[in-house]
Amino acid sequence: MSDTTTISVAGDPGYDITVGRGLLETLGEKLPAGAQKVLVVHPPTLAAQAEALRAQLMGDRQVLLAEIPDAEQGKRVEVAAFCWQVMGQADFTRTDVVVGFGGGAVTDLAGFVAATWLRGVALVQVPTTVLGMVDAAVGGKTGINTAEGKNLVGAFWPPVAVVCDLDLLDTLSKNEATAGFAEVVKAGFIWHPEILDLIEADPTGIVDPKGEAFRRCVELAIDMKARVVGEDLREAGLREVLNYGHTLGHAIEHAERYRWRHGAAISVGMVFAAELSRLAGRLSDDVAQRHRTVLESLGLPTTYRAGAFQTLKATMQRDKKSRGSMLRFIVLDDLARPTVLQAPDESLLFAAYQEVGA
Ligand code: GLY
Repeated sequence: MSDTTTISVAGDPGYDITVGRGLLETLGEKLPAGAQKVLVVHPPTLAAQAEALRAQLMGDRQVLLAEIPDAEQGKRVEVAAFCWQVMGQADFTRTDVVVGFGGGAVTDLAGFVAATWLRGVALVQVPTTVLGMVDAAVGGKTGINTAEGKNLVGAFWPPVAVVCDLDLLDTLSKNEATAGFAEVVKAGFIWHPEILDLIEADPTGIVDPKGEAFRRCVELAIDMKARVVGEDLREAGLREVLNYGHTLGHAIEHAERYRWRHGAAISVGMVFAAELSRLAGRLSDDVAQRHRTVLESLGLPTTYRAGAFQTLKATMQRDKKSRGSMLRFIVLDDLARPTVLQAPDESLLFAAYQEVGA
């Protein structure tokens, strides 16, 4: 029996996400048959593995490597321009393919380059972090940052395939794996509560990429993302639920000048969203409290500076999910029942913030 899981994303055309081990060895099978040139976009930390990929994919193809700065430093227009230059100098055509090989920032940039070169070439995403596998590489959001903010320039450009090789996670630090797991917890609260049961059964062992329960959680989180983006690629409605915990989370990331990991910020953001849901009379005390116990059992933060409310509120007001000056939050009516709360009273927001302020 094959130990590879395939999760399909609906669309026109749709694509498959494969999850398993040893998948890099057969990456060539995921590339479009007619592609003669492959651009592998990768961070410096994956230079040796990118070189190995080049050796493996070569043959009747030309494989180009574009090494880019890691994390948000890679999501700049100058970095995209560097990739365009590499492609231009190699006569990269419409039938060729870009491979995004790295964490969420790298796959965002690679996707943007693929979306813009010749008005769009094929993209295969090979995420190398938990966050990349369960979120960034799935769903076709691509983009770069500008001086004014994160992800302000970009395109919806779905990949032709996503390859999640769990072998790539074995060298992640526990901190990195845990921060990425915050998005998995989100999937547990908004869609697949089985994830929460699995974490509660073994909060220490769950973030070990070699464990069966880890893999199950990652697959459930990918399954949620695949279903959501398969139904609503352009975030006209359902996809908004993926922002659970993100409105306050993004404001915390901004306040911390992106020195906090995304997962840590949305961990606090989810507790805030749960408290907002509870204080709005929608969510039970138990489910709100479960947010704290699950996140804290993983070592994720659930509080932020008590005096920061006004600053965070001003940033939330500029959130791209806001409509005019009206704030919108994803809240829960129950486990796996996310919904939108529009324009909550300032007093309600403040009261919910008191529950996370420390
Ligand atoms: N990361 C949120 C989304 O893909 O919509």
